[in-house]
Amino acid sequence: MDLLTIMDMPENMMKEVISKAIELKKEGNRNRRDLEGKVLISLYEKPSTRTRLSFETAIYNLGGRSIIMDFKSSQLSRGESMADTARVLSRYGDVISARLFKHETIEELAKWAEIPVINALTDREHPCQALADMQTIIEYGKEKGKLVYIGDAANNVANSLMLVAARYHMHVVLCCPAHFPPNERYVDAARKTGAKVEVVHEPIKAVKDADVIYTDVWVSMGMEAEAEERMKQFAPYQVNSKLLANAKPDCIVMHCLPAHRGAEITDEVLDGNNARAVWDQAENRMWAQEALLLKLLK
Ligand code: CP
Ligand code: NVA
Repeated sequence: MDLLTIMDMPENMMKEVISKAIELKKEGNRNRRDLEGKVLISLYEKPSTRTRLSFETAIYNLGGRSIIMDFKSSQLSRGESMADTARVLSRYGDVISARLFKHETIEELAKWAEIPVINALTDREHPCQALADMQTIIEYGKEKGKLVYIGDAANNVANSLMLVAARYHMHVVLCCPAHFPPNERYVDAARKTGAKVEVVHEPIKAVKDADVIYTDVWVSMGMEAEAEERMKQFAPYQVNSKLLANAKPDCIVMHCLPAHRGAEITDEVLDGNNARAVWDQAENRMWAQEALLLKLLK
């Protein structure tokens, strides 16, 4: 089985993986042998710090090994097809993780791969981030609460997160500029779970009674041409102290990182106590991916 999108992940499997991640973290054993001899091949077309390192540490913690293949230094950059590459990688590895610009490219990779393929971020989804984020929300005891996503609610992180949170029946509020609406397919899928999913445009009103405020960059990788326009349009959606003062005092602030300090979030908020979960989110990428690798390979 592949994990290309949260859409395709059965709800019980998703919850099982998140519970397992919590359990693995509690046990804290970083010398497991469950995946001894297994090889993770990771393909990167875009930069990464957390995803790359958390996948590597996850497979090492489970006794397996990791190989990173950079797109630029591979024959993909000289025109070798993804179909041929997928078949070759399948002969060396046991599982592939891939961070690619276009979601269609990972679909092509998965179509031809003979081993499981995990989406390590595409322009459409960031499912591994959402699993770790939900783990974090549960660890902070906020999984029955109101999650307000502020900013670019149409990006990869928002798409995956809204579906995972909806499956836990959180009250999901997407707060964004009217002319940068969320992806309707994801909003519809999230609403189909029965969860309350709202799309709103006024940040101060949106964060009232929020248990979780989540933000991400306004200019995702690959959108650089739109940077100037986006920085202008999203400016009123900054997560700053004034906004936070309108949420519950114990509200947690989340960010997948990397953050553009001074743009979508201020230093004051990111370095403050409400945002301490941000560093747990980064750590939880490792535990959630351990749980996922175990599920796909054991
Ligand atoms: N959050 C996340 O995916 O970070 P990286 O881009 O550093 O992998
Ligand atoms: N939305 C961001 C997430 C980075 C982890 C991007 O795609 O650049």
